[in-house]
Amino acid sequence: MNKFLLLLILIMSPLLASDVITQRQDSMQDFNKLMRSANQAIKSGEIEGLSQIYDDIEAIMQVYPTLFPDDSFDGRTKASKNIIDDRSTFNQISSETAEWAALAKIAADNNDFEALQQHHQNLYSSCKSCHSRFRN
Ligand code: HEC
Repeated sequence: MNKFLLLLILIMSPLLASDVITQRQDSMQDFNKLMRSANQAIKSGEIEGLSQIYDDIEAIMQVYPTLFPDDSFDGRTKASKNIIDDRSTFNQISSETAEWAALAKIAADNNDFEALQQHHQNLYSSCKSCHSRFRN
């Protein structure tokens, strides 16, 4: 390989890694905001907007586990290296969270308030179950 190209890749790789860190932190900020909007909608009984909110959460959690390449655990990240050691659990929690969002969306579409609250609650418990294992 051309030396210049190699050097360029060496310079770029930490930059690319930091970009992925920004992306996943932005995803969490969005997830947090979406959950707050959902809370307010549920409290005020206005469930029209909820379908879109849960759709957005599902999309976030489907992509989320791809944002943790092995070289992205240094610098301004709180992601635990446990993710590298136990990707199957990390992927599993991510996909369960996406699944709860999908179920909450169906419940919202069906005006099934009871199921909606149950799945919304499950979404909240996902925060702790993932953070306690995979966030420093
Ligand atoms: C599948 C795992 C997982 C789930 C589920 C999850 N988180 Fe996170 N969260 C993380 C990880 C890992 C980080 C640290 C990311 C980093 O700093 O690189 C994080 C970071 C955050 C941050 C800080 C973002 C920043 O700007 O640095 C917030 C806020 C957050 N999560 C909120 C939530 C909320 C609210 C929920 C539940 C409704 C949730 N998370 C569910 C794994 C998860």
